[in-house]
Amino acid sequence: MPDGFAIRAATAADADIIDAIIRSAFAGTGHGYQGEAELVRMLEADGDALVSLVAEADGAIAGHVLFSRMDVEADGAAIPAAGLAPVSVTPGRQGQGIGGALIRAGLDELRAQGVAISFVLGHEAYYPRFGYSPDLGARFASPFAGPHFMAMMLDSNAPWPLGGRADYAPAFGRMG
Ligand SMILES: CC(C)(COP(=O)(O)OP(=O)(O)OC[C@H]1O[C@@H](n2cnc3c(N)ncnc32)[C@H](O)[C@@H]1OP(=O)(O)O)[C@@H](O)C(=O)NCCC(=O)NCCS
Repeated sequence: MPDGFAIRAATAADADIIDAIIRSAFAGTGHGYQGEAELVRMLEADGDALVSLVAEADGAIAGHVLFSRMDVEADGAAIPAAGLAPVSVTPGRQGQGIGGALIRAGLDELRAQGVAISFVLGHEAYYPRFGYSPDLGARFASPFAGPHFMAMMLDSNAPWPLGGRADYAPAFGRMG
């Protein structure tokens, strides 16, 4: 973790600041997604947010990550699963390791909660460093299937399921 940063669980009082950080982070991406801030609010309202963390420096929030409950079947059985989305770091603080620290802390928290597998839809140059694999993602049928759809077993010793199905929480289907 970078010097001077602390990661903690988000609280209801952080909602407006998290909203602003997500909007500022995604405003610079140019990929046209405007719905991430609303997505976080919907996932929270639906009770589907499993892990929501903020990175704080000098009392100011500089980044946020959310993992939400997924509906996943692996080799014919339901397994506890979480999707990573979104992760945001305020533009002036990007590239300092905050996003990575938030993701690693979130994965540790998911392990503590007994979650077995995590998925992400994102850049294949970034997420494999945390253990996400496009090859594992490709074993799961999903509306998001493709090279950007990645998965990781949270216990790195666990065998990979041979196949299955992965569905994000309902709020993803309501994204604008
Ligand atoms: C993606 C994001 C959360 C990463 O946080 P960060 O604190 O800047 O990342 P870190 O400092 O931990 O890691 C920096 C690394 O991530 C890479 N990176 C950052 N954004 C990236 C992106 N969109 N695609 C690919 N790589 C990216 C950087 O090139 C850098 O790589 P390096 O370590 O090989 O030099 C942050 O840049 C951000 O908020 N971006 C805008 C929102 C977004 O695109 N979120 C991801 C989609 S859910």
